[in-house]
Amino acid sequence: MTEALLSIENLHVSYRGKGRSAHILDGVNLTINRGKSVGLVGESGSGKSTIAFALLGLLADNATVETDSARFDDRILRLDPKGTASLRGTDIAMIFQDPMTALNPMFTIGEQLVDIQRRRFPKSSKRQLWQRGEAVLADVGVQDAAGRMHRYPHEFSGGMRQRVVIAMALLVEPKLLIADEPTTALDATIEAQVVEVLHEMRQRTKVSMLIVSHSMGLIAELCDSVVVMYAGTVVETGPVREVLHNPRHPYTQALLACEIDPNAPFDATQDLSTIPGNVPDLTNRPDGCIFAARCPSRQVQCHQKPPQREVDHGHHYACWREAA
Ligand SMILES: Nc1ncnc2c1ncn2[C@@H]1O[C@H](COP(=O)(O)OP(=O)(O)OP(=O)(O)O)[C@@H](O)[C@H]1O
Ligand SMILES: [Mg+2]
Repeated sequence: MTEALLSIENLHVSYRGKGRSAHILDGVNLTINRGKSVGLVGESGSGKSTIAFALLGLLADNATVETDSARFDDRILRLDPKGTASLRGTDIAMIFQDPMTALNPMFTIGEQLVDIQRRRFPKSSKRQLWQRGEAVLADVGVQDAAGRMHRYPHEFSGGMRQRVVIAMALLVEPKLLIADEPTTALDATIEAQVVEVLHEMRQRTKVSMLIVSHSMGLIAELCDSVVVMYAGTVVETGPVREVLHNPRHPYTQALLACEIDPNAPFDATQDLSTIPGNVPDLTNRPDGCIFAARCPSRQVQCHQKPPQREVDHGHHYACWREAA
């Protein structure tokens, strides 16, 4: 068994539009080790959800996906609906931004917690699955879980619904849990509580996680390492504390400068503010460094593709400046 649960090399995704196509992910590498948690951070539109959906083989029909190598749990992973079908909802579970998208308003929470487990545990009785459902619901901090099992989604508050969705994901005992902006639909206090639930689950189970977020604070709280994305390119990656305390890429530095004090406790209200300038036109990607047009440290070489530099073991950034 390799240390890596998931490894993707050189992932490219383009979306075809009328007469032209947008090259959204440009050569993304992503590794998630067993039992580890990786954060994916970047501005809106940087391609974070595209990565999450590509892993689930669930990109829109107009997407073209190419990769040099994709492996999950020591097997080749085909990043299309068929290739991922047997993993979705079993080995790989996903938590979406809006919990209502994952819940059916017509069924009680108990029925949905039972249903989600059927594929994973086909031999268990309904009674066993119900009991497991109730136990995990209590684990994620839902009070009176036994009574709550008989209630419908609309009878839950937003934060409670997101706990239910986390319970659903955990009930299938996935090897990889993908959470795409799991707290942005929630208010700040509830957000902090949901982060706490994920944090506890991470410590208690061996699940690997991919946490997608705008917020470096949330990633610092939940992840071992971070992948910083800018316009579909990985600009920096490394252990979360390393990147927070010693960011090397000018984009990561800008992102942190407008965000948080990494030593402060997690504050859910903190988020990225704007970095001057605009994201490049992805239907016509520039040849050189993708961040050059907005970079305060731009220099002449930046119109060529920057080299990958290693700061320390596992900490890399793509930039022409050696000590950016
Ligand atoms: N089906 C599609 N067809 C064309 N373009 C798309 C499609 N889906 C996404 N895009 C574009 O791909 C880019 C990346 O989108 P993606 O949703 O992955 O970004 P994101 O980083 O998750 O952003 P956010 O933080 O807002 O969720 C965006 O420019 C988006 O408009
Ligand atoms: Mg997204």
